[in-house]
Amino acid sequence: MERAVVQITLFGLLLALATTQLNKGNWDIYSFHINSTVTSRYATTVITSRVANRMNESKEIEFQVRIPKNAFISKFRMFIDGQVYDGVVKGKEKAQQQYTEAVSRGQSAGLVSSVGRTLEEFKTSVTVAAHKKVTFELTYEELLKRRLGKYVLQIHARPMQPVKDFKVDVYINEKAGINFMKVKGGLSTNVLATAITRTQVDKQAWVYFYPTEEQQKTCDSCGEEGMNGDLVVVYDVNRNPSLGDIKKSRGYFVHHFAPSSLVSIPKNVVFVIDQSGSMHGRKMKQTRIALLHILNDLAEEDHFGLITFDSSIVHWKRELVQANEQNLESAKKFASNIHERGSTDINKAVLEGVHMLNAHPREDSASILILLTDGDPTSGVTNLEQIQSNVRMAIAEKFPLYCLGFGFDVNFDFLEKMSLQNNGVARRIYEDSDADLQLKGFYEEVATPLLTDVTMTYNGATNLTQTNFSQYYNGSEIVVAGQITDNSIETFTPQVIAISVRLAPPCTPAVIFCGRHNMMMFSDTNAIVESNGTESDSHIQRVWAYLTVKQLLEKELVLSGSEKENAKKQALELSLKYSFVTPLTSMVVTKPQGENTDVLHKPKEGETPEEFRPNAAGGQAFSGRRSHGGFPGKLTLPRSHRFLLKTENLSLPLCFDVTGDVRLKLLRHPNRGLSVNGDLDSVQNGGFRRIVIHLKADLLVDIDTREITVREGQTLSIPKLKRGAYLSSLTVIRRDKEIDVAAGDTRMVILIHEKDGNEFLWPILRQKPLDNNVSGILGGPTIFMSFFCRASAVDYSIVSSPTHDCWLMSAESALQRRLDDFII
Ligand SMILES: *[C@@H]1O[C@H](CO)[C@@H](O)[C@H](O)[C@H]1NC(C)=O
Ligand SMILES: *[C@@H]1O[C@H](CO)[C@@H](O)[C@H](O)[C@H]1NC(C)=O
Ligand SMILES: *[C@@H]1O[C@H](CO)[C@@H](O)[C@H](O)[C@H]1NC(C)=O
Ligand SMILES: *[C@@H]1O[C@H](CO)[C@@H](O)[C@H](O)[C@H]1NC(C)=O
Ligand SMILES: *[C@@H]1O[C@H](CO)[C@@H](O)[C@H](O)[C@H]1NC(C)=O
Ligand SMILES: *[C@@H]1O[C@H](CO)[C@@H](O)[C@H](O)[C@H]1NC(C)=O
Ligand SMILES: *[C@@H]1O[C@H](CO)[C@@H](O)[C@H](O)[C@H]1NC(C)=O
Ligand SMILES: *[C@@H]1O[C@H](CO)[C@@H](O)[C@H](O)[C@H]1NC(C)=O
Repeated sequence: MERAVVQITLFGLLLALATTQLNKGNWDIYSFHINSTVTSRYATTVITSRVANRMNESKEIEFQVRIPKNAFISKFRMFIDGQVYDGVVKGKEKAQQQYTEAVSRGQSAGLVSSVGRTLEEFKTSVTVAAHKKVTFELTYEELLKRRLGKYVLQIHARPMQPVKDFKVDVYINEKAGINFMKVKGGLSTNVLATAITRTQVDKQAWVYFYPTEEQQKTCDSCGEEGMNGDLVVVYDVNRNPSLGDIKKSRGYFVHHFAPSSLVSIPKNVVFVIDQSGSMHGRKMKQTRIALLHILNDLAEEDHFGLITFDSSIVHWKRELVQANEQNLESAKKFASNIHERGSTDINKAVLEGVHMLNAHPREDSASILILLTDGDPTSGVTNLEQIQSNVRMAIAEKFPLYCLGFGFDVNFDFLEKMSLQNNGVARRIYEDSDADLQLKGFYEEVATPLLTDVTMTYNGATNLTQTNFSQYYNGSEIVVAGQITDNSIETFTPQVIAISVRLAPPCTPAVIFCGRHNMMMFSDTNAIVESNGTESDSHIQRVWAYLTVKQLLEKELVLSGSEKENAKKQALELSLKYSFVTPLTSMVVTKPQGENTDVLHKPKEGETPEEFRPNAAGGQAFSGRRSHGGFPGKLTLPRSHRFLLKTENLSLPLCFDVTGDVRLKLLRHPNRGLSVNGDLDSVQNGGFRRIVIHLKADLLVDIDTREITVREGQTLSIPKLKRGAYLSSLTVIRRDKEIDVAAGDTRMVILIHEKDGNEFLWPILRQKPLDNNVSGILGGPTIFMSFFCRASAVDYSIVSSPTHDCWLMSAESALQRRLDDFII
């Protein structure tokens, strides 16, 4: 078989691809899953898209998804016709050769390009024979960064067409405990809000997003092309007041340090604002608005300075002054009169800002220099390296420089390098209606310094990521990872030394030692958690690799000569070892060329049972029936089943018991003619043995653990439905351990659990109908089901079935109705 090669690269580079006009109507994305697992802020997301070519000729099928910019792609595979095509990460030059060859043969190539503020688009395509299927699977990894007191996991969903089997599953596992969790983003609003289920128990949280096909067409910003938007999960973890948490596994550790119960350090801040001609119009106006907000937020013990510049410098005042009411009033007057004119002398302006800070030494304070500009230096010193060198010498590591690049004309590389050389960061401010909020938001991140001169030391560890930080701000987090030399807890001793404001003893509870000159030491051997469990063992090592590569890439930007080459070499080696697609590497995907014409599993179209997974899915394909052992011979007492009722306001969920062989009303949705009943299993050690769904008068779906039967009207009977059915008003999808049922605005997942060799069913409402008239055990408040257990209840609404403590009460009080109302 001939093979073509496609390269996925972070830099689109030289080649303008001929955009293939794809005939979208001819292929069908029949399944689209996004699965994101976050463990200790490290998110691994897998996007799986299954596509069928429904035509009787071969078609080029496209896979196009958006992922966060901060993430590294670590895996891409395609399954076509029994073959797996794995992407291989290679050094850029090596991959480039194959790329060029493929393109010269006229073959298409995949690439990653930047879209909007936070996303990158990954695109590739493959030719699929008539009536064949392809599965695309993309994995990316990202260390979530804490900003303004929260972590943000952004999931972009844009399958390009409505998809019958669409779902997003998010699982968060944080040893420190989850403090709060919210679901935001365009996809969490209005008509889609009911498709989101969220569960949070102490250290774990789950978010499920299961919109029905109907909803995918009718939501905001959705249309015939289906959904297009973000699901954003925002959360924070509980804080240990001292050293934070340190996780250790297989010779690697990661340390999250974010003490919160500290006193803020007064700051000396100088704003250097570009007022050159290019700031004309909205940019200047937004800058004025942002400045006014920022001035309002200064604390009285802060000192500040304000200079504007074009080809010359305008001082509000020549030195820093206290942020008292009178000075703020005067500064606001000055700020509201900033107007654009002239050219851009960045060198002079920044050096003047440095001079002002240097001339204003103040004990127990944190100095910060913030530059806002929208263009290249055009007057005074214009040689970029010269400016960087001047600024670096003037600052001499005494305080951080933050550069805000406004709009797209700005030389962002220059600003980024200058910030990194001076312990700061650069941020792009997008020219948009919310630019003033972006400016203000950035300022808020650095508004509350809590520590300066933070030095993290780890005896007994090596190959550490960055350990010295000039400042630590409230709402942020310092993360350090490394390798433990001697794999023994006794010799591994982490410690943090930093400077804070002077406090009267006994300082704060966070600190175990207060030295002279407000030096603080944080140390706590209890903070170390050895991870021995089943949870992805390699994940701490990957956090280390991710951080190391990110920091080496930054170093490469700042260094020169052999040091630069060395940083680049190390970053490349690690990227290859951990299979990260970084700016130094590319992913090469080999794919089939031409079509293999023998059709072994040509799927039958129409009403007959259909295969919903390609045979090519290899390990993912269904592997026959699960075992379902016989009935135990001996008589048993009727079983009690414990139901769990989760309410957001109570610290513990409620639970109640139902005993005996009963049929329960699970859901009544009269306006849709939908009703769902479940038979509890009174003999076996299980939950429901059978669930029956009626839709209107003529459609019935009968589900047990072994088979699904669909009856439509008087005539059609489909026994032993293995994979699923797509009927006009109802979709049933059978996956490995769950059955997904969607009807109009309702979507239900029935999990198949196994206990002691017996299988049983657990229904969960993933998509609550909007209608108030819905009733039944699932139709009331958020209710989840659980199986009886003495001291607690097992939550079978979650695949991994965690155990919760609960308040046991009578069914009547929990449901606020007579139990008989739910029994048929
Ligand atoms: C999601 O991914 C995790 C980790 O790979 C896996 O354990 C889990 O079963 C997946 N969940 C689903 C719903 O596929
Ligand atoms: C494809 O199907 C159409 C309509 O069913 C038919 O007219 C056409 O000849 C078919 N083409 C091939 C290549 O079989
Ligand atoms: C830091 O932020 C937290 C949460 O936003 C807040 O409760 C606390 O008061 C802040 N600390 C200081 C010193 O401002
Ligand atoms: C540190 O990492 C480098 C390469 O990543 C490796 O060669 C070296 O052995 C590591 N050092 C230790 C002490 O493990
Ligand atoms: C970190 O700071 C400490 C103390 O200020 C210093 O001794 C050490 O050399 C610094 N380390 C790095 C890597 O800069
Ligand atoms: C992990 O270690 C803890 C205590 O150190 C122990 O209780 C637990 O059983 C261990 N888990 C596994 C999977 O070994
Ligand atoms: C739960 O709390 C929210 C706000 O905190 C409130 O609006 C809601 O009524 C409460 N629900 C119950 C059942 O008490
Ligand atoms: C809800 O049901 C009641 C009777 O069961 C009916 O009177 C009412 O119109 C229904 N409401 C809606 C919105 O369908």
